Amino acid sequence: MRKKVIAGNWKMNMLPNEAMNFINNLEPIAKNAKCDVILCVPYTDLFYSLLTAQNTNIKIGAQNMHWEEKGAYTGEIAPQMLKCINVEYVIIGHSERRQYFAETDETVNKKLKAAMANKLIPILCVGETLKQRELGLAEEIITQQTELALEGLSKEQIEKVIIAYEPIWAIGTGKVATKEDANNAIKQIRNKIASLYGKETSENVTILYGGSVNSQNAKELFSTSDIDGALVGGASLKVEEFEKIINSI
Ligand code: PGA
Repeated sequence: MRKKVIAGNWKMNMLPNEAMNFINNLEPIAKNAKCDVILCVPYTDLFYSLLTAQNTNIKIGAQNMHWEEKGAYTGEIAPQMLKCINVEYVIIGHSERRQYFAETDETVNKKLKAAMANKLIPILCVGETLKQRELGLAEEIITQQTELALEGLSKEQIEKVIIAYEPIWAIGTGKVATKEDANNAIKQIRNKIASLYGKETSENVTILYGGSVNSQNAKELFSTSDIDGALVGGASLKVEEFEKIINSI
């Protein structure tokens, strides 16, 4: 059985005191959740969030990292730096990083390998733009992003990766993909993994949908065959809203 996951991506929001309050309020819901609950928080919230989430069911992740172990990379954070404070997860290749910070399939692949080498669980984001979708290129883009990102990982490592299918046109826009479209895209990703690494591996990878998920549309998305949960941006900033999404799975 694949793991179900609801992950929040706070992006560049929340100060440490807000993060700690949020986690304290979420704790009773996370305790009874039928899925893994992850919060991917800004670097400056990591330590406070990890302390507050100790002995709870809430897991903490970062939103990015560099692939090198150390060195002259001003402003960057190394995988070991996350690991040594007990961060468990890290988002890799979010479309905002690809778009605004020039991340490429190549750097995404290096980051995935570095995450694995440091026993961090990557949440790999893939997704097409509106233009690519309109040109009928969505499947090609998302399967290619998946293939290039996973290149060089073992089957065992791939089964640990969480993939988030996030169509760029649905992120922060209020335009959610239909459950059929989202489920279909996720099936295409799964088929690609099956063709490269075998059916068993593909069936074991948790694949989430992300893009304007909220308490109104979550249940419907989760009623599908292949959507194993969600990566939630805006709706993960309000505890009541995030709780409803967790309870929808
Ligand atoms: P959104 O963001 O839920 O605000 O659309 C999702 C994401 O970027 O991970």
